[in-house]
Amino acid sequence: MKQVNLGIIGGGTVGSGVYHAWRQNGALMASRLGMRVHLAQIAVKAFDEPRPYPIPESLLTTDWRSMVRRPDIDIVAELAGGTTVARDMVLEALRLGKPVVTANKALLSAHGEELFEAAGQSRANLYYEASVAGGIPIIKAIREGFVGNRITHLFGIVNGTCNYILTRMKQERAGFEAVLAEAHRLGYAEADPSLDVDGHDSLHKIGILASLAHGFWVRPETVHVEGIRGLSQADIQFAERLGYTIKLLGIIKAASPAGRAGRAARGSRIQVSVYPALIPSSHVLASVHHVFNAIFVRGDIVGDTLFYGRGAGKDATASAVLSDVADAALDLKFGTPCRVPPFVPHERAGAVIPIAQAVSRYYLRLTVLDQPGVLAQIAAILGRARISIASVIQPEGHAGDVVPLILMTHEAPNAPLAHALDRIQRLAVNRAPPVMIRVESFD
Ligand code: HSE
Repeated sequence: MKQVNLGIIGGGTVGSGVYHAWRQNGALMASRLGMRVHLAQIAVKAFDEPRPYPIPESLLTTDWRSMVRRPDIDIVAELAGGTTVARDMVLEALRLGKPVVTANKALLSAHGEELFEAAGQSRANLYYEASVAGGIPIIKAIREGFVGNRITHLFGIVNGTCNYILTRMKQERAGFEAVLAEAHRLGYAEADPSLDVDGHDSLHKIGILASLAHGFWVRPETVHVEGIRGLSQADIQFAERLGYTIKLLGIIKAASPAGRAGRAARGSRIQVSVYPALIPSSHVLASVHHVFNAIFVRGDIVGDTLFYGRGAGKDATASAVLSDVADAALDLKFGTPCRVPPFVPHERAGAVIPIAQAVSRYYLRLTVLDQPGVLAQIAAILGRARISIASVIQPEGHAGDVVPLILMTHEAPNAPLAHALDRIQRLAVNRAPPVMIRVESFD
């Protein structure tokens, strides 16, 4: 039976997870592939690093460069993380013509264009299934499964930590900080929690998916990002009363004029954003709880599809890495190094629209004086901005002069809404900064 040799860089959570999964199912993989993947060496920072699964010392080295250069190492998996040395590691392996598997979303977000270019030049593939949504095979689905579709919409719950926090805040009325600490303890949160709660981890992942789905490299600075730090129990509960659930979503929506003529004239224009949104509690994404991830993809041919699973953790991520290793091994076996190219830029005139132009519905929570004419002033401001009110609630039972006023609007672009909120905030009857959360209805 033919054999290829795998060298892994990184022996921490993901690296040791891959070692463990390979030990468990390496023989099964060999019988499915008709070839053996031999895990030849693992480069680590230190032999005595703490790791969830032990790795025999005989497999370890602290010299990643020598390992990558070993002539018998055929495939390199970069599971070290970070964006500086990891970039050198990937480039070095590609320069040597070796296929690379990476789980590193931050690296791809920062340097993806350069790395895919290097892969193209060396004719060695770069695989990255584990970089987005852990064990869910969403990269393969978009790259291969939906190759015959235009992706018109993608909504992803792609950060397990935020989903865990929002689930517990809703189900148990738990406080934000306490739940974040628990997410850390469970090993889901990033070492720097702001990567999760301020939306940057979701940005890395949604930028990769948007680039792949739309054929031009989506630079992170063009993506509008809001996290969940500012969300309050009040909004979670009002949303619930209105029949909605708040989720942190990565959102990709085609904004081009419909039809081939429009696209040809203006290129592909897309909204790419990360923000907390009210979604109908009856929608399947509202039932994605705790650390689970889910990605809803709408293609113009296939219609609506949903992918669900564990988006993080040593075993789920190892599953994705092994899938990429299998593809790389088959490429080598059949001498087809770029059978499925990693990323093909094909939409030269593609652009991400500014958030000001993005259209959605809105949930507004205002804190205002409870006196005659207040609602009329607010309605007048929204009316002048051509924002139509869909419903209004002023809950009974609030003591004192100040009350919450909840408004749901019909669809409008972000720019006039932001302008109207600014005007509302400056009203004499306004008592706290207005809260605005977008509403996504999946229409
Ligand atoms: N911190 C990430 C999450 C880990 O919570 O989803 C996986 O990328």
